[in-house]
Amino acid sequence: MKRVIYPGTFDPITNGHIDIIQRACRIFDDVTVAVAESTGKNTLFTSQERLVMVKKTLKQLHINAKATIFDGLLVDFVRKYNATVIVRGLRAVSDFEVEFQMALMNRKLDEEVETLFLMPKDTYSYLSSSIIKQIARLNGSVKAFVPKHVERELRVKYGFRK
Ligand code: COA
Repeated sequence: MKRVIYPGTFDPITNGHIDIIQRACRIFDDVTVAVAESTGKNTLFTSQERLVMVKKTLKQLHINAKATIFDGLLVDFVRKYNATVIVRGLRAVSDFEVEFQMALMNRKLDEEVETLFLMPKDTYSYLSSSIIKQIARLNGSVKAFVPKHVERELRVKYGFRK
């Protein structure tokens, strides 16, 4: 049984991330979404809040994947978790350089860990968590890009709802 890890910040999870998780589930038996505790990014949601949103999404959509928080080096987590594959989404050419660097660095840190790239549906290729936050902060609708409960959490964070 191949166990794979889909790591990211998920601040917050978007339909693009969900698309990648579903694709990974079609290929692998055991998929774990790994929510990074700290990534150097100034996150809007705490790691716990991000994890809860991921878990709720998986449950609501009946996606057979697990979710957990990880801290420290990704390869250390992958090894500790008895996985060998990291899944990442490639949305556009602009993702390539940073993903290439990360994949090769992770390989340097642990030769047994492979990174596998999946392409999300083209309609999600322009999505990012930052752009979602920008729209939500300005009271725009993000209904088409995130699950309903995530939209609600964004509205609460930005003070448009209690
Ligand atoms: N659909 C929509 N958006 C997507 C997406 C998809 N399929 N795939 C990625 N994104 C977006 C994210 O929302 C995010 O947007 P943002 O920058 O506006 O927040 C951006 O693309 C990239 O984010 P993410 O996929 O979460 O990756 P990341 O770069 O934030 O996190 C980690 C990368 C956590 C995996 C990496 O930092 C890590 O491994 N950290 C642990 C420490 C470590 O091991 N470092 C050495 C690595 S070589």
